[in-house]
Amino acid sequence: MDKFVIQGRRRLNGTVRASGSKNSALPLIAATLLTERGEITLERIPDLKDIRTFRKLLEYLGADIRYRENTLTVSASNIRCVQAPYELVKQMRASIYVLGPLLARFGRASVSLPGGCAFGPRPIDLHLMAMEKLGATISIEKGFIEAQIQGSHLKGAVIDFPITSVGATGNALMASVLARGKTTIQNAAVEPEIVTLCNFLCAMGADIRGTGTSTLEINGVESLKPAPFTNIFDRIEAATLLTAGAITASSITVDDVDPSQLTAILGKFEHAGCKIITDRTSITLQSPETLSHTDVIANPYPDFPTDMQAQWIALMTQAEGTSHIIDKVYHERFNHIPELNRLGARIEIRNNEASVYGPSRLTGTKVMSTDLRASASLVLAGLAAEGVTEVLRIYHLDRGYEKLEDKLKQLGADITRESYQEFT
Ligand code: UD1
Repeated sequence: MDKFVIQGRRRLNGTVRASGSKNSALPLIAATLLTERGEITLERIPDLKDIRTFRKLLEYLGADIRYRENTLTVSASNIRCVQAPYELVKQMRASIYVLGPLLARFGRASVSLPGGCAFGPRPIDLHLMAMEKLGATISIEKGFIEAQIQGSHLKGAVIDFPITSVGATGNALMASVLARGKTTIQNAAVEPEIVTLCNFLCAMGADIRGTGTSTLEINGVESLKPAPFTNIFDRIEAATLLTAGAITASSITVDDVDPSQLTAILGKFEHAGCKIITDRTSITLQSPETLSHTDVIANPYPDFPTDMQAQWIALMTQAEGTSHIIDKVYHERFNHIPELNRLGARIEIRNNEASVYGPSRLTGTKVMSTDLRASASLVLAGLAAEGVTEVLRIYHLDRGYEKLEDKLKQLGADITRESYQEFT
């Protein structure tokens, strides 16, 4: 297994480029399943464990895929199987993204149930509800979602989501673009990743109105044609890198971004005392010597993202005063807190609200990653800690951060990747 070894308290400076978004790349790759012939080239696809898992899944289904230097080329003309096996789905819950496109194109799909998750319940009922509304019959058999449609096509419908879900909106979109008639998705997610999926589907010939709003209207078309497409930047990676600048009292720039997608987070940095300078494609953060406590409530976009909550808590350990953090998307997503406390932070959780009492003197030790964003928060804390912090089990982090240690090194951090063996 790999770990990061971090010698903390180094000031950072310089510029790094943001990678392509993982959470946007996954539905884009899934959407290629909707095309019957030709090749699709997707640019700015990050080289990550989750992308490799998804690639394996599509290859298992029969797709031909090439990947080189962040460019992924997919031909989905020879799909021979509509079953997503447990071995791949258990590695990545987002595998559920194949449900909508397989059902739309082949009239049936069989997807293993994703199973548990490191930070509380993550149901898939909304995905299934959307497919049923579009005319699929769903049953759960032997741990698999078995979905089938009567007749040859899904039928347009009104899908009214009781809560906003990125994944269920994406699946509903991919299923409805080839359905007969009109589909209306109400309370649709408005995350940039969904906007990007809409743009890609439209580039391939789909008819979608209302992109970027919470009501999407889709008029089903006969077929989609391959179209080249460039993925968006990873807003969570970019914000994590900015947090690395903030937690080390440094000044850094993240390039190749669209600052408008980070409005809520940049506002919080400013509240904490950081100076933020943006232009069309870059963000510079200048951190003060002393940060101010700043409360955060994680909510769906355009609010502060749940995927930055753990990193924010790490940052607030260095802020003067008490910060309160609530996650309204995943109420129990606080696995990072005991590990941050082991580094010397003072964080309490009461009624799903974290109170961070800062500033704390962090001192390096061994800490354990438990999920992707929790790992990032431990790396950030390690950058601020005195002495050496070892972040173990960084395979979680490798799921979603492309070359994080290289980017941090480029900014001047003292961080190395080493392999180690765990005692069993
Ligand atoms: C996506 C992101 C994940 C991010 C999350 C919220 C990907 C691959 N993952 O996950 O990084 O943390 O959005 O921004 O893009 N829910 C249900 N039933 C469902 C589906 C979801 O109750 O069928 C609930 C979830 O438990 C959660 C909320 O809806 O409380 C939002 O989840 P959702 O937006 O679906 O997250 P994902 O798409 O799984």
